Amino acid sequence: MKGEGVKLFVLLSIFAVLGVLLVIYCREDDLTGTLYAIYHDFEKKETLNSITHIKHSKHFMTSAFLDHRFNKTIRVISIIRRDSLQPLFCIYPNNNSYQVVNAQVEIHRDHFGFPFGASDVLCRGPSTHNAIHVAVSANPNISDIHKIDFVPVQNRVETETFQFNFTICISNLFGKYNNVLQFAQTMEMYKLLGVQHVVIYNTSCGPNLEKLLQHYKKEGILEIVSWPVDQFLNPSAGWNSQKNPGELQYYGQLVTLNECVYRHMYQSRYVLLNDIDEIIMPYKHANLPLLMESLQQEHKNRGVFLIENPIFPKTQFEESRKFRRPEWKNIPGVNIMEHIYREPSRTNIYNPTKMIVNPRYVLQTSVHSTLNHLGEIYRVPFKVCHIVHVRVPLQKHLSKEQLHIDTRVWDFQKELVPNVDKALHSAGLIKLPRFI
Ligand SMILES: *[C@@H]1O[C@H](CO)[C@@H](O)[C@H](O)[C@H]1NC(C)=O
Ligand SMILES: *[C@@H]1O[C@H](CO)[C@@H](O)[C@H](O)[C@H]1NC(C)=O
Ligand SMILES: *[C@@H]1O[C@H](CO)[C@@H](O)[C@H](O)[C@H]1NC(C)=O
Ligand SMILES: *[C@@H]1O[C@H](CO)[C@@H](O)[C@H](O)[C@H]1NC(C)=O
Ligand SMILES: *[C@@H]1O[C@H](CO)[C@@H](O)[C@H](O)[C@H]1NC(C)=O
Repeated sequence: MKGEGVKLFVLLSIFAVLGVLLVIYCREDDLTGTLYAIYHDFEKKETLNSITHIKHSKHFMTSAFLDHRFNKTIRVISIIRRDSLQPLFCIYPNNNSYQVVNAQVEIHRDHFGFPFGASDVLCRGPSTHNAIHVAVSANPNISDIHKIDFVPVQNRVETETFQFNFTICISNLFGKYNNVLQFAQTMEMYKLLGVQHVVIYNTSCGPNLEKLLQHYKKEGILEIVSWPVDQFLNPSAGWNSQKNPGELQYYGQLVTLNECVYRHMYQSRYVLLNDIDEIIMPYKHANLPLLMESLQQEHKNRGVFLIENPIFPKTQFEESRKFRRPEWKNIPGVNIMEHIYREPSRTNIYNPTKMIVNPRYVLQTSVHSTLNHLGEIYRVPFKVCHIVHVRVPLQKHLSKEQLHIDTRVWDFQKELVPNVDKALHSAGLIKLPRFI
């Protein structure tokens, strides 16, 4: 009898403890209950979700940044449904409670007619500089906001020393993209040109490229930002809403480019905004640091440099075929060293550009130019720098004789070729006797 009593007591005690734990656990989700728990759960969330729903709306947000250039406004890079505007509120901690302020929504003017557009949600109010995280909602009642609704506020410290000098932002890898050889050549080329950091927004990719991405991630040069935009929206695979219908331009390219610029504002001296198959190539300087040193000496107060983007058709092959190496025979993708014919710039139309920017000069960016910036834009002369962009021809009617010969990539062959081999080998994509 005595034994039964003890057992019952132990059992009841366990239930009591579980009950208390349950109450504490539930309270954690109650905002006004335990601020502490909310403060300390962020790092985990950041790596899980790059896209967060804006409560009681059709909109989404990605990341929030303190903008030191504008009175320490909190700028939340967002994806706003343009036909469903409604008052939004920013909610952030202040003085042991939560501050609720009206949000100002700025939809970027480049939205290409898609229903959703890259946007800034601006939070202005007291003590935004102290906010470590922020929520955006269409409901200003703070009891409606939970841990999960917050994103951390980044760039809280303004610095003038940078972890990287050159960072490349590559937006939106999607589908089964498996252009491995061109990517390996491009990455190795960029390393030779002085790039320390490459960022890719990954929705999905092909199986061989996956291996190469893992290799570069392990090596440390590549940062992969998970970009599951297709789980939230029906993204378009192009910029033309007639040809490629969908809810958001090119898998959210404009959103990720802006996110990337802000993410690197105090991490990188310069940011290069180009596609995965493009190399911003100096033609008068040995590398990017020398190019930028020279450009900045001439143009002190500029932070946006436009680089012309001519096409090197992948349909035209170099005659000697000396770079058709057996080692690369089974690697999927384009061998850029075989395509040295460049389409001429056209005089009667706008020749598209990509960019090198000082991110601290950029407010909003599009693909070919910034939309809103500080200082003046500088269009870099073609002879000084242009892009090596091997892809399907744009001016299809031109014969080989009408194209320019441009062998700039070959200048790097001595280091480039073995480095590409090494990378492919490390990624497990080729076996090379000399590395075994
Ligand atoms: C913080 O809140 C307390 C009580 O709510 C108030 O007395 C104090 O003035 C506030 N401080 C600031 C800096 O707003
Ligand atoms: C900056 O913010 C503070 C506090 O929020 C405000 O008092 C001040 O007027 C703002 N200044 C400008 C230039 O917006
Ligand atoms: C906020 O929401 C809570 C819980 O739903 C409710 O009790 C309270 O009245 C609301 N406050 C306002 C100002 O609407
Ligand atoms: C960036 O450039 C500066 C000045 O040219 C140099 O001292 C520094 O080592 C470079 N940093 C990196 C990470 O390469
Ligand atoms: C890219 O995203 C896909 C889909 O989520 C995932 O399976 C793959 O592992 C990711 N690749 C890398 C290198 O992160």
